[in-house]
This record gives sequence, C-alpha cells and structure tokens, in this order.
Amino acid sequence: MYSEKVMDHFNNPRNVGEIENASGVGTVGNAKCGDIMRIYLDIDENHVIKDCKFKTFGCGAAVATSSMATELVKGKTVEEAMQVTNKAVMEALDGLPPVKVHCSLLAEEAIHAALWDYAQKNGITIEGLEKPKSDIHEGEEEQQEEY
Ligand code: FES
Repeated sequence: MYSEKVMDHFNNPRNVGEIENASGVGTVGNAKCGDIMRIYLDIDENHVIKDCKFKTFGCGAAVATSSMATELVKGKTVEEAMQVTNKAVMEALDGLPPVKVHCSLLAEEAIHAALWDYAQKNGITIEGLEKPKSDIHEGEEEQQEEY
C-alpha cells in the first residue's frame, strides 16, 4: 500500500537528528494519534535554509514525509520553503494512503513553526506564514459521536 519512495524514506530516513543552536525550532503534535514532530532549521544571513533536521514520535508515514520534506526545504529561501506543503511532499513520495494524509501535516506544520520561531527571533515577516498551532487539529470542531 506504500509507494517505493515512501518505503525508501521510511527505511533510510534523511536528516534525522537535531541542530545545535538552530536558527529556528518548531514542535507540533497531532491529537488524532498523539504523535509529535520537531523540526530544526539552520538558516544563513541570506535567509537560505542550509540544513534541516527532524525528530519524531510519529508513525512510518510521518517519518517518510518528514524525511522528504527536510530534503525539499534544504537550499530554499524561507519564502520558497512555504511552497513545501504536505501536498507537495506527498506528490514527491508518489502518494500516501488516505488514512495517512494527516501524518504528512506534521512535517508541514513543524516546518512552519520552525520558520515562525526564526522570524520572531530575527524580527522578519515571511509572506503567507501564520502563527503556528501547537496541534495540527487545533480549532477543528470536536466530533460528537451520536448514538
Ligand atoms: Fe501519528 Fe502517523 S499515525 S503521525
């Protein structure tokens, strides 16, 4: 049910770890499964992302999407990194099963949270970037179960 690319990034995840004195760090959780993701960004004076690492308590799909997302943002400017959406990451991985789409949001949101942290520390504004949520499902209507 997983594409070869997903399996490759799951078995050999790129950019796992942390960056000391990172320019920006973002952590988000996913209430649906209780998983957590943290992204570290190393950004130079031209606002180019030199390095990106991640740590996750997420599932295999979260590992694969984070691995791909960190690869995609490296070398991009902070503005260009905004284009690395969960959709773009899923396309780069040749798709994910529908039940796993929410896992791919962890990487996108954690990157946004790390960019936000960087922007706050440096007093800059990144176009299109909004204050991150601490949970990717924050603000969603609680689903009422009816019997
Ligand atoms: Fe939690 Fe995939 S099930 S991140």
